[in-house]
Amino acid sequence: MRPFASCRSVVACCVLLAAASPRPAVEDGYDLWLRYRLVGDSGRLAEYRAALTQLVVEGDSPTLRAARDELSVGLAGLLGSAIPGADSVLRDGALIAGTPATSRLVAGLPLADDLRRAGDEGFVLRALRVRGRQAIVIAGNSGVGVLYGAFALLRLIQTDSPLRDLAVVSAPALRLRLLDHWDNLDGTVERGYAGPSLWDWAHLPDSIDPRYRDYARANASLGINGTVLTNVNADARVLAPAFLAKVAALAAVFRPYGLRVYLTARFSAPIELGGLATADPLDSAVRAWWRGKVDEIYHVVPDFGGFVVKANSEGQPGPQDYRRTHADGANLLAEALAPHGGIVMWRAFVYSSEVPTDRVRQAYDEFVPLDGAFRDNVLLQVKNGPLDFQPREPFHPLFGAMSRTPLIMEVQITKEYLGQDTHLAFLAPTWEEVLRADTYSHGAGSTVARQIRGLAGVANIGSDRDWCGSDFNQANWYAFGRLAWDPGLSSTAIADEWIRMTFSNDPRVVGPVQAMMLASREAVVNYMTPLGLAHQMARGHHYGPGPWVSGGRADQTSVYFNRADSAGLGFDRTASGSNAVGQYFPPVRNRFASRDSVPETLLLWFHHVRWNERLRSGRTLWEELLRHYEAGVDTVRWMERTWGGLEGLVDAERFHRVQGFLRIQDVEARWWRDASVAYWESFSHLPLPPGYEAPAHSLDWYRQLRCPPDPRKPRCETVMPAP
Ligand code: GCU
Repeated sequence: MRPFASCRSVVACCVLLAAASPRPAVEDGYDLWLRYRLVGDSGRLAEYRAALTQLVVEGDSPTLRAARDELSVGLAGLLGSAIPGADSVLRDGALIAGTPATSRLVAGLPLADDLRRAGDEGFVLRALRVRGRQAIVIAGNSGVGVLYGAFALLRLIQTDSPLRDLAVVSAPALRLRLLDHWDNLDGTVERGYAGPSLWDWAHLPDSIDPRYRDYARANASLGINGTVLTNVNADARVLAPAFLAKVAALAAVFRPYGLRVYLTARFSAPIELGGLATADPLDSAVRAWWRGKVDEIYHVVPDFGGFVVKANSEGQPGPQDYRRTHADGANLLAEALAPHGGIVMWRAFVYSSEVPTDRVRQAYDEFVPLDGAFRDNVLLQVKNGPLDFQPREPFHPLFGAMSRTPLIMEVQITKEYLGQDTHLAFLAPTWEEVLRADTYSHGAGSTVARQIRGLAGVANIGSDRDWCGSDFNQANWYAFGRLAWDPGLSSTAIADEWIRMTFSNDPRVVGPVQAMMLASREAVVNYMTPLGLAHQMARGHHYGPGPWVSGGRADQTSVYFNRADSAGLGFDRTASGSNAVGQYFPPVRNRFASRDSVPETLLLWFHHVRWNERLRSGRTLWEELLRHYEAGVDTVRWMERTWGGLEGLVDAERFHRVQGFLRIQDVEARWWRDASVAYWESFSHLPLPPGYEAPAHSLDWYRQLRCPPDPRKPRCETVMPAP
């Protein structure tokens, strides 16, 4: 019998040998959720060893090689010894992977229906008999489908799942699943809290950091299929030949992992790089310049994905500088990209202090009239909420409102407004909340998830050894990728997987850590911006409380958003106020507009409420506000205690790291609560209820504070004054 098509060579043997050697035990976070430690917590090891005795990956593309390498390394680690590759005999326990085109074994199986459902990027996992042998099959229509299937199988083992009756068909719900890096060419990262940029531009393209491959592996393990390398506040130089060569080098590392490269395009690049006098989108020289530039990019990166553009927002250049519309601007780039199959993701995060209306109305007002004016390869990239990645916002009213323009939703994985590196805040519930929100744009059931073609996440990745600045921040990268693949997944299920892969399958760990993660985001909402408040962070760096921030550009201040006065608190966005509520479809509009039906979680987002007005709970706004701040602080204390109970059940390194960060979060949650309450008290003049822990210091004391010292935090000025 002829050996299987892909009995492979020296490289595979080296990989297997490397995998068979003991792995370092240090839990420094580098391995993320791909730790592949020996399956130890359950009795399933024997079952897995019997079910997986031979690795038969048929096909020889770089992507199939990546799948084989991952399975070799992963299974060797999980099962404790390397699994032999293909030889002339198919054995019981064969793990067979390939596409019908690369694998005679896969082609001979009755998987046509499953493969049809799997589509271009999906995969099939099946336990079945192949040539009389009990086997497990990973099949896809493409190499990347097989690679995703390989990661899915490893995940099942990592999470202690049975393989016996395996029958999975999985296909991504969204076509675009992208990380947006806000990385600058000088190595700094806008809103990055995990060290300098991962892209070592100075040494590229000649020197390739092995981390690039691990970055691609981690993304492929989640099905993330694109990466925007540069900041939305773009630098035109990335489009110059010297940088494009570096971009091409990164793209070459990422390609086998199904990860396409995208760039941000600075609208004024024709002037800055091309020496033209204008960047007017209707100017023929400008159009020719972009066409030439895009051709040049595809020459070095043939599978280049396209551009993300921030235009006429927060000082960025754009088509309005030439009295043209956003559609004119987007179409200019789309026209250049179209022949190559590239796309433009044009950001809807557009607002101006010169426009007199409520900031949260402006994107809708700007873009809805342009619906239908964009070329086919333009997507409008809309943040999850109409303001700016707050701990809680209602969903953006543009979802469902642009029936002729495909939309992509942008969320922020990096926790700019949620305690940055240190605070534990698991963001899956935030994203789940918006994905499931019903826009009613096409009747009931028109959820946000059904209105979008893609999900883009502002990355929280830097060159810190642990990638994300904290152990728990890794869970947000994980959750983002999982939700982009399947927006129907629950936060609970995602947390469960991540904990098992990252920490342990021990129920004494899984249960408490899951409870902490699921409570964490609401805790942050409660101690920072309860009841629908938003944007109460200190100016600029957005770390720590600053409800008093005023002056300068009004629509970036806290007082603009909180509208605190002696009567009450909150922004009236009903018909008597800015009427932003009118941008939602009924019945959402009516639900938000009415004090009787607005969810309490969004009360102050839509309504100005008197301090002593009774809410549905029967308590006054003042009492309810205090209760929420207190609940936030209490939850953090509870998280600290819960984590403390895990000593000895999780490794000492991570135990102590997390414990230290929870201590910081505890202090800072109280700082948030006390500073905020002291400030609101100066308007409400109401007493604190008996038993309520009064702010530890005066309002003036809190107002003097600057960002607590941490050299990696942006623009930290001074240390906290002594009490
Ligand atoms: C926020 C953030 C900025 C960023 C902007 C954007 O305002 O603070 O740093 O540039 O979002 O999304 O463009």
